[in-house]
Amino acid sequence: MKFGFFDDANKEYVITEPRTPYPWINYLGSQAFFSLISNTAGGYSFYKDARLRRITRYRYNNVPIDMGGRYFYINDNGTVWNPGWSPVKTELDAYTCRHGMGYTIIKGEKNGLEAEVTFFVPNNYNGEVQKVVLTNKSGAEKTFKLFSFAEWCLWDAQDDCTNFQRNFSTGRVEVDGSVIYHKTEYRDRRDHYAFYSVNDSIDGYDTDRDSFIGLYNGFNDPQAVMAGKANDSFADGWSPIASHYKEIKLGAGESKTLIFILGYVEMPVDQKFEADGKTINKVKAKAMMEQFDTPEKVDAGLAELKASWDKLLGILNVDTPDDKVDRMVNIWNQYQCMVTFNLSRSASYFESGIGRGMGFRDSNQDILGFVHQIPDRARERIIDIASTQLPDGGCYHQYQPLTKKGNSDIGGDFSDDPLWMILSVSAYIKETGDWGILDEMVPYDNDESKAQPMLDHLKVSFYHIVNNLGPHGLPLAMRADWNDCINLSCYSDTPGESFQTYTNPKFAAEGGYSKVAESVMVATLFTYTGPNYVAILKHLGKDDEAAAAQAEIDKMKKNVMASAWDGDWFLRAYDSEGKKMGSKECEEGQIFIEPQGFAIMSEIGKEQGADKKTLAAIDERLNTKFGLVLNNPAFTKYYIQYGEISTYPGGYKENAGIFTHNNAWIICAAAYAGQGDQAFKYYSEIAPAFTEETSDIHKTEPYVYGQMIGGKDAGSDIGRPGKNFGQGKNSWLTGTAAWNMVAISQYILGVQPDFDGLKIDPSIPAAWDGFNITRKFRGNTYNIAVKNPDHVCKGIKSVTVDGKKIDGIVMPVFEAGSVHEVEVVMG
Ligand code: GLC
Ligand code: GLC
Repeated sequence: MKFGFFDDANKEYVITEPRTPYPWINYLGSQAFFSLISNTAGGYSFYKDARLRRITRYRYNNVPIDMGGRYFYINDNGTVWNPGWSPVKTELDAYTCRHGMGYTIIKGEKNGLEAEVTFFVPNNYNGEVQKVVLTNKSGAEKTFKLFSFAEWCLWDAQDDCTNFQRNFSTGRVEVDGSVIYHKTEYRDRRDHYAFYSVNDSIDGYDTDRDSFIGLYNGFNDPQAVMAGKANDSFADGWSPIASHYKEIKLGAGESKTLIFILGYVEMPVDQKFEADGKTINKVKAKAMMEQFDTPEKVDAGLAELKASWDKLLGILNVDTPDDKVDRMVNIWNQYQCMVTFNLSRSASYFESGIGRGMGFRDSNQDILGFVHQIPDRARERIIDIASTQLPDGGCYHQYQPLTKKGNSDIGGDFSDDPLWMILSVSAYIKETGDWGILDEMVPYDNDESKAQPMLDHLKVSFYHIVNNLGPHGLPLAMRADWNDCINLSCYSDTPGESFQTYTNPKFAAEGGYSKVAESVMVATLFTYTGPNYVAILKHLGKDDEAAAAQAEIDKMKKNVMASAWDGDWFLRAYDSEGKKMGSKECEEGQIFIEPQGFAIMSEIGKEQGADKKTLAAIDERLNTKFGLVLNNPAFTKYYIQYGEISTYPGGYKENAGIFTHNNAWIICAAAYAGQGDQAFKYYSEIAPAFTEETSDIHKTEPYVYGQMIGGKDAGSDIGRPGKNFGQGKNSWLTGTAAWNMVAISQYILGVQPDFDGLKIDPSIPAAWDGFNITRKFRGNTYNIAVKNPDHVCKGIKSVTVDGKKIDGIVMPVFEAGSVHEVEVVMG
């Protein structure tokens, strides 16, 4: 069942039923001011950091699920409704929500009155603009009342939802004409305030929540709206809000446009107040209001936003035999990559914005799918992340975006972290040819006195693996690897202990984790990423260092084949007792997905057919119609030696859920091994546009990836296997976005930036006649036509660039600013 449709021409998903199976959200803003907005206008805003600088309040896991947002209420002679249906939930005569690139348009109609609200954060602007267009379609004059609503968060979102004894007495506002200012703590320690304005006169306002809503009412029936009159309440403590009230009269056919702005302002300390030393200096706020005080200015701002997205998305554009592929690659997957790049795993409808900052491994991987869009921002991010690294190559697992400092409560010792840094830096150089990043002086542990060139960060990353090997010469698993839930040193039997950070006394003397437990996944990730480091050293003429690094990679491959090949696939790990994990010999969890793809792409054991065998085993044991499960059979009991993974009921999350992030590694590997049909099959099982038809089962947004889909075992814990099979969770913020962008564009369609140029090596469904792709790369445009006359999955007969045959499959880099016609014939 569908709840809307894709409007590809406008790059929108159009939701036609407000009762979606879960709130379907969008993100506004992509620079500093961000908003989350659901299809009923729920959500919230923040500046840079969802935890430390939250602007409006939201209540997670609420009943009903999506409560709190920017709401417009209309009281039309006693009929009260919202353009987005919720929270009042009066049945509308018409409803649509268009989620587009950085904007959302919600339109509702009731009793001949239409209200269309366009929400967006303009480029280079710290605020959300809301254009409300009210149209009287009734054929007779209409008088009605409009109320706006936003609830302020007292800045620190964590403190805001816990520290009521203080916060109920600190809230402060200022009202000036039609503008409501939020200034809690502005008098003392904060140099920022927020405002909610409208570009017209108002007939009243409310700034105190209990006066507006009423202590025993809800968002669905706010007292003031029901009574049809604002109270002009003035918040002094409790919960400050901002609500404008206006009576509107519209003749038949007439319409009225109002522009609301929810803005954020920072002030220099010596200019915070007007001469009286008390009143907010509003100069900057007023300038922001003036920027968008007419519909023309708003429309121009939206047009500019759309144009900037068209430009960004024009860098990579495909035309394949499958519309769903085009829609994913050209629009939604790239869009999601921007969002994951900006927000890492911090703020979504599944991430509360107060739990996690930026993840070291997550943000490095996000760069893989984003770097072609705005390479300069990727560069800056890479440097921010690298600055939190420790001198021995170890990493803080997370850092806060506002302070850019490593988060010591989560700490480090995640065995995979350093490797992703090698991958992101390589991806950046491959995209841009900017080798200069390697000379950039980058601090360790945010300490400028410990700065070293970026190249040194790559070196310590590489050798952090080499210097931390276990008994089989495989990397130590430490607290966890990519799979946060395989915790081989935790042995936790006490509720509440964090599986990732708890140090079991057993291993305290060894430095917090077992010196026996090894990760095969980190081994294969090392052999997959390591060659990038070698190529970089060679390019720099450091041949000895390159040879030494290559020797480590070769040794690791040998060790994997000697100790981690299980006969038909690769093992997952050795536990702290030296026992195999992910082997046929195990009772449960015999095969795991994570090490396999990287092993195949590193060609470990290829001469013995390890790649084909592994792919066959994956297809047989892990594949389902909704994607590949992470492991099989699912764990049905708690394995204290494995940790968090076995705490999940079978079929969810890391315990045999379809963890879409690592599906991409298999898609890449199948494509790499020449199995284009298989690669495409796995891709289409999980790509959102393909799951749109089953939105009722899938639940989450059909335009973006989620982290996890219920696996074939979902429900088995309650004796109903298959019950939640195919049900998505944790949409939006996931490494799946970047990795599937890589999988489809670089491995299946096969256009892969390389150190020396743009490489082309597709691995597609044999049935395809070919496809076209336009790629802007290092200042040039390549119009590539791939022809597949022999209907093969992989293999290239010839490549012609501007009519001339070239040797090999790497298209040369030309002088910037030129356009090139490329023809690739497969066969
Ligand atoms: C989540 C985390 C990511 C981790 C994955 C597997 O997606 O953000 O860092 O690799 O789970 O546990
Ligand atoms: C990741 C995993 C999740 C785990 C968490 C721990 O997000 O996906 O299952 O609980 O990390 O930090």
